Amino acid sequence: MPEIDRYRPEDQRGVEALYRRVFGSDAAAASRFRWDWQYRRNPNNPGGQPLVWVVREGTAIIGHYATMPVRLSLGGKEIDGAWGTDAMVAPERQRRGLGEELFRTWDRSVGAALGIGLSDSSSPLLKKMHFPDVAAVPGLVKPLTRRAVRVPQLPMPVNRLISALTLPIVRVAARVRPLRADVEPIRRFDATFNDLWERVADRFELAVRRDAAYLNWKYIEPPHVRYSVAALKRDGRSEGYAVYRHAQEPRGRVTLLVDFLADTHDDIGFKTLLRWVDAEARQAGSDKIRCYAAHLGFRRIMRHSGYFQMRHPLALAVKINAVGVPAKFYKNTDDWHVTLGDSDQDR
Ligand SMILES: CC(C)(COP(=O)(O)OP(=O)(O)OC[C@H]1O[C@@H](n2cnc3c(N)ncnc32)[C@H](O)[C@@H]1OP(=O)(O)O)[C@@H](O)C(=O)NCCC(=O)NCCS
Repeated sequence: MPEIDRYRPEDQRGVEALYRRVFGSDAAAASRFRWDWQYRRNPNNPGGQPLVWVVREGTAIIGHYATMPVRLSLGGKEIDGAWGTDAMVAPERQRRGLGEELFRTWDRSVGAALGIGLSDSSSPLLKKMHFPDVAAVPGLVKPLTRRAVRVPQLPMPVNRLISALTLPIVRVAARVRPLRADVEPIRRFDATFNDLWERVADRFELAVRRDAAYLNWKYIEPPHVRYSVAALKRDGRSEGYAVYRHAQEPRGRVTLLVDFLADTHDDIGFKTLLRWVDAEARQAGSDKIRCYAAHLGFRRIMRHSGYFQMRHPLALAVKINAVGVPAKFYKNTDDWHVTLGDSDQDR
């Protein structure tokens, strides 16, 4: 009989073998590279232990569900939450209820069950479990060069025509604007970012607690991606940050604005951070900047700064268990702060 149990270090080989079978060997190698950081070194792990479940059958591992625990702030009141990641069941054992058992174990064990970028199989599974419907996280793009508006599915001559036609819009959107406050690159988040979080936490009806310990783990220490971080400073205080990286994609170079924080009332501060990222993206030769942002206020400022909303948002799943929330909590997500940096979407 298969049984669900917490992960133990001696399960590692079985988990890796299952990962290879379900996701392929390249994805398995990439996961092995991240695993220790992603699951063992998370500063929010309860009792310091990875919050990962496996399905055992004899000595074999036939299912797995990992999580990334976080402190989740609901308007400043904190509960424990965990992003669900790397759900997998051995191919010959799928569609027999094991995945649902794993998801239910996670849901029962956490104050908030959180998911982002769901797959074709996990999305109907969450629906079956009556997870609340929540809006997906909108994506935004800021074109910087005429190559920014290429569509991967279209042939190059058509793309050239689109580029030529949209060039005037790109030129207006990509205008260089001067910086109005101090932004500086940093290599680590110091304690002043704890103060920033304490000041702004209650602005967001839902957001992962972005304190220094979390930010250093998430954006400074990962072994698989290298981020740049810029801090917004005023009078020695940290008033915001932006986390970004540049990447080469098939149709051009892109700067990903992965995460950011500022007071939602500090329009100038956030605009200043955006301008810093613009300058960095230009210097790196990027054709565009891409970002995902749930918060309406931040998105409004981004639109004023030359960003356009994209067609494909990031699917989001949220179920609050630790405290009661009214049904309308899930309906209006305009004050939630969720970005590509949440969970393990940026790999
Ligand atoms: C996602 C996964 C772990 C689910 O495990 P499972 O044991 O097959 O799931 P269950 O048998 O408990 O299925 C429960 C429900 O999930 C949904 N579901 C599961 N697999 C599905 C699929 N391939 N397509 C559509 N819906 C699916 C269905 O609603 C299903 O209920 P039903 O069988 O009554 O229709 C498994 O399909 C898997 O390993 N998929 C490949 C890897 C993957 O995509 N992981 C998710 C990454 S976010």
